[in-house]
Amino acid sequence: MPDAPLFEINGLHVSTADGEVKILRGVDLVVEAGETHALMGPNGSGKSTLAAALLGSPEFEVTEGSIRFKGDDVTDWPPEVRGKAGMFLAFQYPQEIPGVSVRNFLTQALQERKGTDVSSIETYMTMVEWMEKLSIDSALMERHLNEKFSGGEKKRNEILQMAVLEPDMAILDETDTGLDIDALRIVAGGLQAVRAERPALGVLAITHFQRILTSGLEPDRVHVLLDGRIIDSGGPELADRLEREGYERYEGIQS
Ligand SMILES: Nc1ncnc2c1ncn2[C@@H]1O[C@H](COP(=O)(O)OP(=O)(O)OP(=O)(O)O)[C@@H](O)[C@H]1O
Ligand SMILES: [Mg+2]
Repeated sequence: MPDAPLFEINGLHVSTADGEVKILRGVDLVVEAGETHALMGPNGSGKSTLAAALLGSPEFEVTEGSIRFKGDDVTDWPPEVRGKAGMFLAFQYPQEIPGVSVRNFLTQALQERKGTDVSSIETYMTMVEWMEKLSIDSALMERHLNEKFSGGEKKRNEILQMAVLEPDMAILDETDTGLDIDALRIVAGGLQAVRAERPALGVLAITHFQRILTSGLEPDRVHVLLDGRIIDSGGPELADRLEREGYERYEGIQS
């Protein structure tokens, strides 16, 4: 299917795994190659649920609709198969792996993504190159993954993983991470650096911070999720308006 969009969500309904709580009630979204989309919405609207469903988390169940990536229906694919195909989800990777260094972890992840023919020296060179571009201290490479990382270091490491793994589609959930303005700049600046090198990368940034969008992320499209549905979409000016007015204007809208 050569004309299929890079990434496409169709009529997605998602419930908790036990089927008790219906959270997403028909989400449609298309991200073409090279586009950055921001998904925003108030607390409890379903943003993290969408991110988890896109990852293939066993916590949730897709009851209707589909997720397609490069023309393939990936709705039932396990997380690691999605990753290997070129979908990057920041939280796909364990938060903390005691005893595994950033370097060893990335080497292994890259070999899984690219096949076993990637040499450790090649991986090492790629890592060094990106650490320079992202202004990451090279000492981080030998540290154990995420153990006692500061919030900013975790973010840098996430962006480093994204840069090194060369995905075609990156899904970033910045919702719950309590990012300060420096961490936001790291994410936005890192994304810009990766996009400069990989202009065809598609990005879906899930956030309720308008600030991330004004710190250099520059979305092509902004979507508002409310009560499990996308109730508004627009250009970057929509993010500015939400910054000024909040979500109040959507109150009372029957979605
Ligand atoms: N495992 C679960 N069991 C029951 N309800 C859940 C579960 N996970 C999420 N929910 C409910 O689904 C709704 C959406 O939650 P979600 O975490 O996706 O919101 P969010 O948009 O990410 O919010 P926030 O901006 O606060 O991070 C909430 O009402 C939440 O209580
Ligand atoms: Mg959330």
